[in-house]
Amino acid sequence: MREPVFINQEEINQSKAAILRLQHALQDKNYRYFIESYGCQMNDHDSEKLAGMLEEAGCHKAAHKEEANLILFNTCCVREHAEKRVFGNIGALKKQKEADPSLCIAVCGCMMQQEAVAKRLYKRFPFVDIIFGTHELHRFPLLLEEALAGKRVFVHSDTDGEIAEGLPALRENPFSTNVIIMYGCDNFCTYCIVPYVRGRERSRNSQDILAEVEGLAKAGYKEITLLGQNVNSYKGDGGKMDFPTLLHRIHEVPGISRIRFMTSHPKDLSPGLIAAMASLPKVCNHIHLPVQSGSDRILQAMNRKYTRMDYLRLVEALRRQVQGIEITTDIIVGFPGEQEEDFLDTIRLVEEVGFSAAYTFMYSPRPGTLAAKMEGQIDEAVKKDRLFRLNQRIAQLLQESNQKYIGQQGEVLIEGCDGRGPEIMAFGKLPCFKMVYFPGDTSLIGQLRQVRITAAQSNSLLGELL
Ligand code: SAH
Ligand code: SF4
Ligand code: F3S
Repeated sequence: MREPVFINQEEINQSKAAILRLQHALQDKNYRYFIESYGCQMNDHDSEKLAGMLEEAGCHKAAHKEEANLILFNTCCVREHAEKRVFGNIGALKKQKEADPSLCIAVCGCMMQQEAVAKRLYKRFPFVDIIFGTHELHRFPLLLEEALAGKRVFVHSDTDGEIAEGLPALRENPFSTNVIIMYGCDNFCTYCIVPYVRGRERSRNSQDILAEVEGLAKAGYKEITLLGQNVNSYKGDGGKMDFPTLLHRIHEVPGISRIRFMTSHPKDLSPGLIAAMASLPKVCNHIHLPVQSGSDRILQAMNRKYTRMDYLRLVEALRRQVQGIEITTDIIVGFPGEQEEDFLDTIRLVEEVGFSAAYTFMYSPRPGTLAAKMEGQIDEAVKKDRLFRLNQRIAQLLQESNQKYIGQQGEVLIEGCDGRGPEIMAFGKLPCFKMVYFPGDTSLIGQLRQVRITAAQSNSLLGELL
């Protein structure tokens, strides 16, 4: 991992000065923004930072896109489908821009970090005012200022490896939130675009992370999720602080009841981390451990650096040491060269492990990645068929394995209410990440409460409040 370069205070101060100027320029204008965020929690958190800067500049969130003065797309490019949706949704804004030429449209995020795609978008949609990549997030107030002065703004740079501290964030959820501990990825799985659009792996200093968590605890947050593309390889404080030690430090922060983290790469899951999970009561008994495939041949072609047996050994160690742990995963079907037998290896692995949720994807070739140029690209129909069969098997297995929860008692952090059925149901997660629905109302939201499980479905559990 490369040593991070902390963006100097001077540059952050320039952005803060721009925020103040915007505040002055936009006051009494009821300037409203709408952010459409695609992709993973990294992007969601970047959107919270963009919203934080806009709120400090005196802007307010618009309830609908149609009411906004500024529409910002924070894009993802992990699969082709995500890109297509962005192009479609930006195209659909043409009429709104014609009706209100003062409408400001901005596009940022991972898709815009791919220079060729960003240039294509710039040409194809002349009504887009601002385009910027992932490494420019902290400069957004300055870019908005330029756009409001009538300029069309396009910024792209490959200066990755930087970390910007001290930006405000407007957090969506008042009791559970994400804290980024590291940026970027060095793993270069052959199918994945993330290292190209998020830059090299770099870790925040533990004192900055701890200060953020302490602030969140004081503000009443009960659950935090530590985020990174590969948190197990976190190395902060000039390489002196590893992830298990960081977990111990965060565990000492009073007020936080639950600590989660994602994502974990199996090749870096250390005995120390398993021991920390086992010994620290606030660290939830859940791990998201993407396996991607159950075939050694395919795992090697994916450059995942572990075998099926390595993975099964980790599962065994986790189950032995961390009481009641649930394991969730990501799986790709139809990677180049995947034969029926490889796919069946994946099904067999799923049966052996008993995942409590699996996010399954059809392989999507990403320009610039090694796998996109590999021979043996799989037919879309075959990919679809494999995805369908895999999902069916997972649902069946979950229906069966969830039965073990019936009669058990556990603590949920109540996230919301669903009024679509005959009865209003509150819902929240157990520490192991299982979602439980139970009769309840909105007054419960944000509370930690005990429930008893009364029934099990494939995707969730039903229960009653104790
Ligand atoms: N850093 C995380 C995940 C990042 S992307 C990790 O390593 O686990 C989230 C998931 O998207 C991946 O786990 C993978 O299953 C899926 N994914 C990434 N690239 C993909 C592609 N080209 N086609 C299909 N799925 C992909
Ligand atoms: Fe992509 Fe692999 Fe990095 Fe995850 S670990 S972000 S899948 S390259
Ligand atoms: Fe996340 Fe998509 Fe970027 S998955 S890191 S928003 S490419």
